[in-house]
Amino acid sequence: MATVISLLNHKGGVGKTTSAINIGAGLVELGKRVLLIDLDPQANLSLSLGIPRQPVTIYESIMGESDLSPFVVRENFHVVTSSLDLSSAEMELVNEAGREFILRELFAGVEDDYDFIIIDCPPSLGLLTLNALTSSQQVIIPLQTEFLALQGLAKIKQVIQKVKLRLNKELHISGVLATMYDSRKVLNRDVVETIKKYFGPILLKTYIRDTVALAEAPASRQDIFSYSPSSNGSKDYMAVAKEVIERTANPIHLRERSDKTTPKT
Ligand SMILES: Nc1ncnc2c1ncn2[C@@H]1O[C@H](COP(=O)(O)OP(=O)(O)OP(=O)(O)O)[C@@H](O)[C@H]1O
Ligand SMILES: [Mg+2]
Repeated sequence: MATVISLLNHKGGVGKTTSAINIGAGLVELGKRVLLIDLDPQANLSLSLGIPRQPVTIYESIMGESDLSPFVVRENFHVVTSSLDLSSAEMELVNEAGREFILRELFAGVEDDYDFIIIDCPPSLGLLTLNALTSSQQVIIPLQTEFLALQGLAKIKQVIQKVKLRLNKELHISGVLATMYDSRKVLNRDVVETIKKYFGPILLKTYIRDTVALAEAPASRQDIFSYSPSSNGSKDYMAVAKEVIERTANPIHLRERSDKTTPKT
């Protein structure tokens, strides 16, 4: 049965999509069967992999018009694409009973076909993200190692806690991923130290370095392993994919921290 992981941060531009694609591709390199779900109406994940507009996207499936219809990028690497239509789904579903569980129902039909299902969430905490959280076992929070990285995190933790309590007991934060890290920048080093203090062992050991190839790969419609296999981006995401496998096999059991205060960096 597939392990479902949401990449979540309601802050924009922190590396959710880049991480969903490249953790997914890393897991495929390691022999896993992976399904990526583009749950963002911006469709950045679908566009970054150069997938042409599909007749059935996540929108049609969420609206009950079709089962999931993944696009095959290559063997063991499949993607359910998105489109701008998805932006109206939250409003269209407002009177739908059980609207928080639509994605979970859709996964029931495919969960034996994959080892990992990875969801690229939109930069918001609305109904789409709620669907991602009710259908996931794990959440990975990408954090850009810049000023205000941790701002708003208390809110994310609160939402995850509520979903865990009311809708999905299995849900937990399995990793915080430092992204766009430049060890030459004092600020980046300071922010990582703060994240480490705040999250302890939940912080993944690998930091994703600020790497030009990671920003270029989407323009070539490729994941980092196809675009630049020897780049730091490939090395970092491969290391993260290994950590994801390790954490799935041996989950970190931590008592949730009760402090609600968030450091300022
Ligand atoms: N490690 C990195 N090094 C250099 N550039 C990066 C890195 N990670 C991501 N980027 C670039 O930063 C930008 C934002 O990344 P990305 O789209 O993954 O963020 P996001 O959190 O999905 O954004 P959104 O909230 O809009 O969906 C993109 O242009 C991406 O190519
Ligand atoms: Mg994105």
